[in-house]
Amino acid sequence: MSSEKSKNPFKKGPSNKSPILWTIAFFALVGYYFPFQSFFTTTEDTIDPKSVILQALETNLAGNWSQKYTSEPHLAGTNYGLVEWTEQKFKEYGLKTTIDTYDIYVSYPEDHDLKLISNKTGDVIYQAPLKEDIIDEDSTTKGDDLIPTFLGYAANGNVTAQYVYANYGTKEDFDYLKEQEVDVKGKIVVVRYGKIFRGLKVKFAQEHGAVGVLIYSDPGDDYGITPANGYKQYPHGPARQESSVQRGSVQFLSQIPGDPTTPGYPSKGDNVERKDPHGSIGKIPALPISYREVKPILKKLNGHGKQPKHFAGELEGFEYFTGPNKNYNLNLYNQQKFNITPLWNVYGEITGEKKDEVIIIGNHRDSWIKGGASDPNSGSAALLEVARALNELSKQNFKFKRTIVFHSYDGEEYGLLGSTEQGEYYADKYQRDVVAYLNLDDAVSGKHFKLNASPTLNHVLLEIAKQIDFPEKDVGSLYDHWLKTSGKVGSLGSGSDYTVYLDHLGIPSVDFGFVGGKGDPVYHYHSNYDSYHWISKFGDKDFVYHNVIAKFLALLTLELSEHEVINFKLHDFSKELEGYFNDTVSRVPKSWLHKTITDQEEENWDDYEFANKVSNGQYPGDKPMGMKCHMMKTIHNQKHNYTLADLLKDASHDLGHFKNVTRSIDSTGVELQSLYDDYDNLPIWKRIAVVFRIRRLNKVLKYFERSWIYRKGLDNRFWFRHIVYASGRYTGYAGQTLPGLNEAIEDGSFDRFVKWVNVLSRSVKRTSSQLNA
Ligand SMILES: *[C@@H]1O[C@H](CO)[C@@H](O)[C@H](O)[C@H]1NC(C)=O
Ligand SMILES: *[C@@H]1O[C@H](CO)[C@@H](O)[C@H](O)[C@H]1NC(C)=O
Ligand SMILES: *[C@@H]1O[C@H](CO)[C@@H](O)[C@H](O)[C@H]1NC(C)=O
Ligand SMILES: *[C@@H]1O[C@H](CO)[C@@H](O)[C@H](O)[C@H]1NC(C)=O
Ligand SMILES: *[C@@H]1O[C@H](CO)[C@@H](O)[C@H](O)[C@H]1NC(C)=O
Ligand SMILES: *[C@@H]1O[C@H](CO)[C@@H](O)[C@H](O)[C@H]1NC(C)=O
Repeated sequence: MSSEKSKNPFKKGPSNKSPILWTIAFFALVGYYFPFQSFFTTTEDTIDPKSVILQALETNLAGNWSQKYTSEPHLAGTNYGLVEWTEQKFKEYGLKTTIDTYDIYVSYPEDHDLKLISNKTGDVIYQAPLKEDIIDEDSTTKGDDLIPTFLGYAANGNVTAQYVYANYGTKEDFDYLKEQEVDVKGKIVVVRYGKIFRGLKVKFAQEHGAVGVLIYSDPGDDYGITPANGYKQYPHGPARQESSVQRGSVQFLSQIPGDPTTPGYPSKGDNVERKDPHGSIGKIPALPISYREVKPILKKLNGHGKQPKHFAGELEGFEYFTGPNKNYNLNLYNQQKFNITPLWNVYGEITGEKKDEVIIIGNHRDSWIKGGASDPNSGSAALLEVARALNELSKQNFKFKRTIVFHSYDGEEYGLLGSTEQGEYYADKYQRDVVAYLNLDDAVSGKHFKLNASPTLNHVLLEIAKQIDFPEKDVGSLYDHWLKTSGKVGSLGSGSDYTVYLDHLGIPSVDFGFVGGKGDPVYHYHSNYDSYHWISKFGDKDFVYHNVIAKFLALLTLELSEHEVINFKLHDFSKELEGYFNDTVSRVPKSWLHKTITDQEEENWDDYEFANKVSNGQYPGDKPMGMKCHMMKTIHNQKHNYTLADLLKDASHDLGHFKNVTRSIDSTGVELQSLYDDYDNLPIWKRIAVVFRIRRLNKVLKYFERSWIYRKGLDNRFWFRHIVYASGRYTGYAGQTLPGLNEAIEDGSFDRFVKWVNVLSRSVKRTSSQLNA
């Protein structure tokens, strides 16, 4: 083999220049354990897969796919034509396809109305059109196939009541109103978009006794790109079009995603048990409106109730008061059809040499509006581009090491329906085989790169970002841009299809895309104006940022597939974990620290996903992973008074040790990879050792994230089972790290706090000992 070949990490393949007997013995022994690995393949052609991919993406068809996907409505559970079209494209790019159907509870809009009524006279002062304006040059805003403005899963109802303005409708906002003695009971609540997931606004309103909710988009949340600052509205400029309405789901995302009638189990088959959906959807009606529509409504509150500074938005012509104003009522009417209907996921697979090491790339296909140029079609376009690029490799007989599966989900918008149900359906298989999940959603809605991921992926993500040119002059690489604009890999919350993978199954995940930032045009999220016309005129002229996303994702996939040692860095995880832990400890009430801890119950292995599955033999080749299935009784030294401070000190020590262990695993990984890269020059016995050690290490790496899955789940939300990452219970989109611990502090529960420290340190200790074995 040429040394040139040896330098190419993707071209590793053992040569057969060794003596024949050695070779037979080697093959017999190793082949027994590694039936899929071809030790004798010598690839004579020396294609460089990276340049093949980048070459393929020099042609940019993202705009073509965007145009196709945005040309017809594709609300969840509708437009089977687009399902077939997606499958057809997957086939065209050499993927083995499947259409996977689930029967899911959703709601479709039928009718709505909103009136401002004088209490004295009963006259209708204002009736909101509940429609976005037609814009001549934007074809997505006209026609008889537009999707009405509505909120998915908002309850049916016709209510007339006084109303109160509640700012963003966060938990803090409602607490503040209560404190100020502004009663929302029996009232309609008007809130603005922003800060938290919209479904939680409805949840908090309902919990405070409100009878209906209106949610509108305030220009005060458009980062200064406003008419007041001299910016013209779409289509004449980058500011928000005043009639634009954000549709969306009002499901209780942070409680549990997926089909509201099948919490925690898949909506598949004829005999699925259906439960009352109200565990994750509301009981009061709600409507989304534009800022033009809210103006006459908020204006009537002027001078009534309180005027908190932090409630003020940037609409002109009135002051922001809470109300209520006894002289005016709102009549809010929402009528939707709730039914169980088929939703369709489309999958396309490239079968790699290792069928038990799988990378899934997912993106949803459904959209709230006919267009959806950013959400989700910038992701859908990039997904097809990646499939097309990888197919250029397959066409040249390149054999991928790991299996790569493309997923196009239905029903993400209503509550991550398609991804959650399939994740629940294939839970065992995914936990056994999936190495990483790569998520796309609104891949391009602005020009600022955002990266949220499981820390084990940080290293590889940034390495790949260094290899991609940023489209603007003088910026350098994508990495350079990221360093300047963000410089931080965030943690995953919720609001997209990675949720089931990370939070329920313990599969390392990443979510990324270009989002709006300083100077970017306002993105008309879930509005008719998230259209092909908008994206090609304002969002991403010539689709160059789409192309960057496709290149990034394609190279990332290649790296994760071809790097012989799974390219994770565990130390990045342990370091982050220690940081989260320290932050948490700094929030512990001082009075708790010297409290004595009464003895805890004995640990039950069944509570820990990984331990449970290993002991049930669900992970093949379990024991060599050093899984010692001994029970760890928590004995809080009955000898002396063991306090919380002692417990935290011990946990901190365990985390320090864990950091050391992960650091050494990472260097083992680097060592093994470099031995593998030099495979052809190794004596045969060393090759065997290297292959065995890599095989074993890869198993450890693959299952690492599963260690943090606690089977009983978080307090009061069993579906969220990752003890390090969850959707924030009061935020939805934004994540909460160490949720068990932090929620216990928020709730003032000492016992729950102690429980979660124990869960954490057991997981840390067990994982350390597995890694050490
Ligand atoms: C993509 O769109 C361009 C511009 O509309 C068109 O010229 C080209 O033929 C399209 N290519 C494909 C493969 O659809
Ligand atoms: C209408 O106004 C009267 C007095 O101004 C008040 O007592 C009553 O509660 C109001 N009705 C509603 C439905 O708000
Ligand atoms: C809603 O209720 C009001 C009375 O409160 C009634 O006048 C109106 O017709 C109702 N609207 C619909 C669509 O049922
Ligand atoms: C966390 O706290 C420990 C003990 O105080 C300290 O040694 C460590 O450096 C801290 N780590 C981080 C990431 O803040
Ligand atoms: C534990 O603390 C209690 C009260 O603070 C004290 O009475 C007792 O002697 C202590 N026991 C030990 C073994 O230190
Ligand atoms: C981690 O490693 C450092 C340096 O090797 C050592 O000083 C330290 O004691 C170790 N920490 C733990 C908790 O094992």
